[in-house]
Amino acid sequence: MKFLVINGPNLNLLGQREPGIYGENTYESLCKRLKDFAAAHDSTAECFQSNYEGGIIEAIHGARGKYDAIVMNPGAFTHYSYAILDALKAVDVPCIEVHISNVHQREEFRHKSVTAPACVGQICGLGFYGYEAAMGYFLSRENVTKESFRG
Ligand code: DQA
Repeated sequence: MKFLVINGPNLNLLGQREPGIYGENTYESLCKRLKDFAAAHDSTAECFQSNYEGGIIEAIHGARGKYDAIVMNPGAFTHYSYAILDALKAVDVPCIEVHISNVHQREEFRHKSVTAPACVGQICGLGFYGYEAAMGYFLSRENVTKESFRG
């Protein structure tokens, strides 16, 4: 499968940013890990990161006809970006939302995701492994349409 991995604002600072919450491994190491995971499953993973809402929206639009699935950590946009929600609804590429930390153990504003309703599902609190878990889910359901991904 062809995966597009999208990471939102501040995730480029993984390894330096609040390591007690997000760990000590860098964004670059995350991308290498996901590319290696994909390759081990006869797949590819392209990593995209932006600190801008518009950049993420354009990456979602650009996934049409190019990728089989999106794995996305929208960062703080998760909690308020209706524009990213609409972008996900506008394309027929299925997406799983991932959060490195367990957002439900954190501040109240992180408990709500406005983007998750347009996703197949959401994974949180499993660290970098969450991205692999999302890819593994899609791999287990290859050849299934967006509508029936949940089954
Ligand atoms: C995050 C959780 C968000 O609340 C936060 O704004 C992030 C990272 C996570 O991966 O745990 O930037 O999405």
